[in-house]
Amino acid sequence: MKIIMLGAPGAGKGTQAKQIAGKYSIPHISTGDIFRANIKNGTELGKKAKEYMDQGLLVPDELTCDLVVDRIGQDDCKNGFVLDGFPRTIPQAEALTNALNELGQKMDYAIDVDVPDENIVKRMSGRRACLECGATYHVVSIPPKKEGICDACGSELVLRDDDKPETVQKRLDVYHEQTQPLIDYYKKAGILKSVDGTQPMEDVFAEIVKILG
Ligand code: AP5
Ligand code: MG
Repeated sequence: MKIIMLGAPGAGKGTQAKQIAGKYSIPHISTGDIFRANIKNGTELGKKAKEYMDQGLLVPDELTCDLVVDRIGQDDCKNGFVLDGFPRTIPQAEALTNALNELGQKMDYAIDVDVPDENIVKRMSGRRACLECGATYHVVSIPPKKEGICDACGSELVLRDDDKPETVQKRLDVYHEQTQPLIDYYKKAGILKSVDGTQPMEDVFAEIVKILG
């Protein structure tokens, strides 16, 4: 099963993608997590990506597309994968479609997690992220068992550099301009499904499972 998670920053793509990956035993591929891991490890890619991410801008397509095309060609993706945060521009979607075409494959679902902008800023300021394993918490709605510590791997939780309110607003603007057109792109491809992302996270997941079967 090959799935794309669409949705604004903070809509819950990562939260849901992790659960999907667990239930269907497919890898969770988050370009944001890949970039953050590179920043943490001080790689060249990380240095370049950070310049854009800290301003709430998209990392250029040429740094992003090859990385994902390469990743989905690896052995563990044979039975499918869930893409979280990619594609985010029409050229990225086209690069993905073309790469899969070459393998005689196509995406099965693009799931849009729909959350209005008003809800987003609130969510982001309370988010805490694990840079080690990619787990995500919220200080009010989804707190970790022990404050500041990741339930999954025991690492320290942080407020992401790009979760400051002014950067969140920029990310929302960029989303509407560059990423929202993908909703139409995948509607035309006949694989778009929408879920109401304002529900509690278990209910969002239940809706997704109904779609995926
Ligand atoms: P990325 O890491 O993908 O960030 P994003 O799209 O901005 O999305 P987020 O991770 O912020 O939100 P999410 O939808 O995963 O929500 P989450 O589950 O955490 O990208 C970061 C940056 O990297 C980009 O700005 C860009 O610069 C760069 N980048 C990445 N991919 C790129 C690409 N393809 N091309 C170019 N640049 C790229 O949930 C949010 C919060 O809400 C959490 O605290 C969570 O616990 C809580 N929550 C989740 N669900 C619920 C619920 N149902 N009810 C209440 N709270 C909930
Ligand atoms: Mg995420």
